[in-house]
Amino acid sequence: MPVDLKAMFNIDDATVVEANEILRPYENLVPIIIEGNQVMLPENNSLWRGMQFWGLMTGEINIDFSLFCIAGTCKNCKSRIKRPGEDQRLSMLACQTIAVPGLEIVRLPMGFTYRKKSY
Ligand code: FES
Repeated sequence: MPVDLKAMFNIDDATVVEANEILRPYENLVPIIIEGNQVMLPENNSLWRGMQFWGLMTGEINIDFSLFCIAGTCKNCKSRIKRPGEDQRLSMLACQTIAVPGLEIVRLPMGFTYRKKSY
């Protein structure tokens, strides 16, 4: 049984449909750190789509869609990433990297803006 997005994020049906259209099938959300802030992104999906998802759910992430191919060719989504259990920071493509628990995006690429909301 997948996560109940409507209850979890207090969003309408149209936003749930929109989120599911951009995502591959998933069961759970996994904790990811973005520039020091914890977010919950869908497993089995790229960080890029996950961040799009988080923006839809919370409004905390904005993306300039005109900059990105989401297909691994433009390289504009190159991010500084720390994989769980590793100290090294690597340059990785957010659209080609699957969200796993504990992964950290140390620095977002240009075109992504994260702004934490206070609840
Ligand atoms: S968005 Fe173009 S390579 Fe990732």
